Amino acid sequence: MKLIIPGGSGHLGSILKRAFEADEHKVVVISRRGPATLDEVDGADVVINLAGRSVNCRYTKRNREEIMRSRVDSTRAVGEAIARAVRPPRVWLQASTATIYEHTYGPPNDENGTLGGNEPGVPETWRFSIDVARAWERAFDEAKTPLTRKIALRSAIVMSPDPGGPFDLLLNLVRYGLGGRAGDGRQYVSWIHYRDFVSAIRWLIANESLSGIFNIAAPHPLPNAEFMEAVRKAWGIGFGLPSTRWMLEMGAWLMRSETELILKSRRVVPARLLASGFTFEFPTWPEAARDLCAQRRNHDRSKLSRLPGNQPRRYRMGRKHASS
Ligand SMILES: NC(=O)c1ccc[n+]([C@@H]2O[C@H](COP(=O)([O-])OP(=O)(O)OC[C@H]3O[C@@H](n4cnc5c(N)ncnc54)[C@H](OP(=O)(O)O)[C@@H]3O)[C@@H](O)[C@H]2O)c1
Repeated sequence: MKLIIPGGSGHLGSILKRAFEADEHKVVVISRRGPATLDEVDGADVVINLAGRSVNCRYTKRNREEIMRSRVDSTRAVGEAIARAVRPPRVWLQASTATIYEHTYGPPNDENGTLGGNEPGVPETWRFSIDVARAWERAFDEAKTPLTRKIALRSAIVMSPDPGGPFDLLLNLVRYGLGGRAGDGRQYVSWIHYRDFVSAIRWLIANESLSGIFNIAAPHPLPNAEFMEAVRKAWGIGFGLPSTRWMLEMGAWLMRSETELILKSRRVVPARLLASGFTFEFPTWPEAARDLCAQRRNHDRSKLSRLPGNQPRRYRMGRKHASS
């Protein structure tokens, strides 16, 4: 297959590119910095649009505008490129987010669940994220691509051992003894292991009868306190300092981020994936955390062995000290 990934230079794009290239498919990443253009969609099999300014920032006026515009405009641009293609792709997978659902401690949200925005007492920044997600999906809905199957990916946070990714940040907190519960620890964390993320994308591409909205999340979201405990156990650290809401507010301000990413209770389940017969390799967090920690340890070990002086000694074969 030929896959086109606008916005594929980031976290999810790198995971997908690695996986699909390993399967010997051709992957073209469309980046603001690269030569490839959206005309590449003509004749391609699959488009996966991931473009959008990172939400891991302070929601200043300027950042808000860019978060919104980058998602809505790129979705429209992809739709227009597909509409004018002589040979349009078979399927268009469009990034959306599990953040679109309500902040809830109640029953989990499947694809027919309650969207957020009307919960009493939630910060205004959380509403902004819902507005973005709705506008993003509206732009996707409005795109007229009759020959191309469309799938909106309401993804939970994708956990991989890649340096700089969300799991890496989490693990750094745990390693420094800061991996306790956040706030009261009751808020649900929805997540997905990167291998299941890749498998879900493969599944959605291959199953031609599937279209519309899909929650891309493991079937067992869990409260933040249990989520953090599982990471500590997987890494072998007994203690993690809990952080109060005001500590998180200060930390988020210092790190130029928002507490929403940690404190919003996202309880999202992949009903449509499960109903279509998809099975998860990592359905529960403790086993996923153990796998990610093991991969991270191997990565650290191989990095350590590459440092000068740590290479295994090589013995020269053949004549012994011929010159001496
Ligand atoms: N990572 C997750 O766990 C997760 C979960 C749910 C939803 N999502 C959504 O899925 C998408 C991909 O996630 P990701 O983690 O891979 O994001 P990412 O690492 O931030 O990558 C997104 C890419 O979008 C492009 N981009 C950045 N600013 C842009 C702008 N102003 N206009 C147009 N393009 C811009 C960048 O590519 P260039 O600089 O090369 O142009 C960047 O590599 C995002 O929209 C994200 O909101 C992610």
